[in-house]
Amino acid sequence: MGSKALCLGLFCALLASQIYIPIPGNIEEHWKVMALEAAIKTCTFMGICLENIGIMKYEEFISIVIRLDYTQPVSDEYVTVTDTVFTDIPVHLYLPKRKLETPRRAVIYFHGGAYCFGSFKQTAFDMLNRWTANKLDAVVVGVDYRLAPQHRFPAQFEDGMAAVKFFLQNKILTDYGVDPTRICISGDSSGGTLAAALTQQVQNDLEIKHKIKVQALLYPHLQIFDSYLPSLRENEHGVVLTRDMAIKLVGLYLSEDETFPKALRKNQHMPLESGHLFQFVNWSTLLPKKYRKNHVYIEPILGTTSYSLPELMDIRLSPLLANDSQLQNLPSTYILTCQYDILRDDGLMYVSRLQNVGVQVAHEHIEDGFHAALSYMASPLYLHLGLRIRDMYISWLDKNL
Ligand SMILES: *[C@@H]1O[C@H](CO)[C@@H](O)[C@H](O)[C@H]1NC(C)=O
Ligand SMILES: *[C@@H]1O[C@H](CO)[C@@H](O)[C@H](O)[C@H]1NC(C)=O
Repeated sequence: MGSKALCLGLFCALLASQIYIPIPGNIEEHWKVMALEAAIKTCTFMGICLENIGIMKYEEFISIVIRLDYTQPVSDEYVTVTDTVFTDIPVHLYLPKRKLETPRRAVIYFHGGAYCFGSFKQTAFDMLNRWTANKLDAVVVGVDYRLAPQHRFPAQFEDGMAAVKFFLQNKILTDYGVDPTRICISGDSSGGTLAAALTQQVQNDLEIKHKIKVQALLYPHLQIFDSYLPSLRENEHGVVLTRDMAIKLVGLYLSEDETFPKALRKNQHMPLESGHLFQFVNWSTLLPKKYRKNHVYIEPILGTTSYSLPELMDIRLSPLLANDSQLQNLPSTYILTCQYDILRDDGLMYVSRLQNVGVQVAHEHIEDGFHAALSYMASPLYLHLGLRIRDMYISWLDKNL
């Protein structure tokens, strides 16, 4: 009891010390967002302290905090929710209760969490998937892939692929009453990376018969190539996601080598033989002028590192590295970007690349948006921005899926 009270006291003291964090003026619900920022910074600080004094790893502490928000599968009046596995991958299935008249649409959803955290069990993602099933009268599948650092790249992709392939079988689609021509893959943040990479694989794999009709990428992470994009410069210290934190988490996802995050911070992490790929992430040609502003393009320095990480050139890690012929077969795409987000330019550059090869793209940009807002749709952190993103996404899906 004493130690719990001490921890709570410490948390409150830290929270109070973090409360003054400047937030861009046009962000709505200013005080709530400041409180959210302070809570996130406090948790990060506590996690790093615990790691430094050797009690537990930073990521273990953050996982404990996020797990407090996990819910059990609960069916309601409109949707039956069940826990099951596709091969051995855990999934949550949301099946509408309405009588089936024609085969249904389906959405396969990948949650965010920087490859290290999160689950379809988080209240906000459960709410989103339930809402999608109900509003679209669609079958929704939430996928729990393995997490880093216990399972590094490409475990997350492989789990996603296993779940998607399992679902796309004739027998399974028939069992759930799904129309095989109306299937979507969606995801937010690192879930958006998985959604983009999986869609590329499915569309280009001749052995997969049923293809994806649309993909929806919500503030997706699409490259680990250039760590000095304008959006990374402008939003280095947040809101919600800072550049330092993203570098730490990408390090956990990819490699044990401690020199990797250091090189990534300096934008000197890529091998010499990756030079030909820079055209695919060259923001000075791919970003619209409005977002380039007066930023000066700085060529990354290649081939100065001691580690060998050929994964850095893998399109499953950085879907933006796919070449034009790999992008050509992509389905109609929805991309949502937020102004105050280090990942903003990933999404913007993917919009340009897809448009350049003639893929149909719907792009929505939120001028007062910030990263991960969909995760804050449930109390106590109930942000109007999360609901706005949800409604934009669902309204596009309803018209296009
Ligand atoms: C990026 O594009 C600019 C032209 O806007 C060019 O000068 C530069 O060499 C390109 N950089 C790379 C690494 O391709
Ligand atoms: C694109 O990449 C694929 C896979 O690496 C390769 O087979 C193909 O030749 C490339 N196409 C072009 C136009 O470079």
